[in-house]
Amino acid sequence: MARNLQFEIFRYNPQDPASVPHMQKYVLDETENMTLFIALNRLREEQDPSLQFDFCCRAAICGACAMVINGRPNLACKTKTKELPDEITLLPLPVFKLVGDLSVDTGVWFRQMYDKVESWVHTSKAFDPAALEERMDNAVAEQVYELERCIECGCCVSACGTARLRPDFLGAASLNRIARFVVDPRDQRSDKDYYQIIGNDEGIFGCMGLLACEDVCPKGLPLQNQLGFLRRRMGITALKRLFK
Ligand code: SF4
Ligand code: SF4
Ligand code: FES
Repeated sequence: MARNLQFEIFRYNPQDPASVPHMQKYVLDETENMTLFIALNRLREEQDPSLQFDFCCRAAICGACAMVINGRPNLACKTKTKELPDEITLLPLPVFKLVGDLSVDTGVWFRQMYDKVESWVHTSKAFDPAALEERMDNAVAEQVYELERCIECGCCVSACGTARLRPDFLGAASLNRIARFVVDPRDQRSDKDYYQIIGNDEGIFGCMGLLACEDVCPKGLPLQNQLGFLRRRMGITALKRLFK
C-alpha cells in the first residue's frame, strides 16, 4: 500500500531579512520507484513553489543535489524513498555557503580549495599541439581515472569533523585531488613541493582519520587509501626534512 511520506525540510532564505531558519512539514503520497528528486519536484510543483533545491543531471554525475538526508549526506537523485522510513528530514549540506533552503554553493569552495592545491599538471615541457599523445602505463591510467571520478558533490566535506571545525581544512576531496597528481607521471612536482601545500594542519596532518568521508561518498571513491597514501608520503618527507 502506498505510504504517505512526512517531510521535514529546512527553510531559510538568507537574502530575505524577514526569513527565520525553521523546519517545514510537507506530506506527499509515495509512488513506485520515487526518488527524492521526484519527491522534491512534486512538492515544489504541487505544494510550494518557493522551495529551493538544486538538481542538474538526475543521474548521480553532476553532484548538484547533495543534501543531508535523515542525518547523512547523500545525493537526492540517487536516493529512493523506499530506502527511507515514513519520516524524512532534509537539511542543506553544512560547511558550504547556504543559497536558500536545501541549496548550497559548493562551487566557490571547490574553486578555492583547488586553487590552493594547484589542481593542474605541473610540467616544464613546452606543449606541442602536433605531437602524439604521451603514452601512459595502463595501470597508472586506471589509477588516475579512479581518482578523477569525484563529482564534487561535497558530501565528504560535509561529513568531515575537521572541515566543520576549521574552514581552511582542504577536506578529502581536495586531498584526493592531490593524490591524483602524485600518481600522474606527467606532473613533475616532488614530494617536497606537495609538502609545501598539504604538509600541515590545513592538509593531511589535520585529518583525524575517522573516515566519515569514505563512508558517505556516493561514488565510492577510495578516500581511505588516498589519505593513508598521502599521510605516509608526507610523514616520510617531514622526517627527511628533520634529519637532513
Ligand atoms: S578521515 Fe580526514 S578527511 Fe575524512 S572525514 Fe575524517 S578528518 Fe575528514
Ligand atoms: S570524494 Fe566523493 S563525496 Fe567527496 S566530493 Fe568527490 S564524489 Fe563527493
Ligand atoms: S542531480 Fe546531478 S548528482 Fe543528483
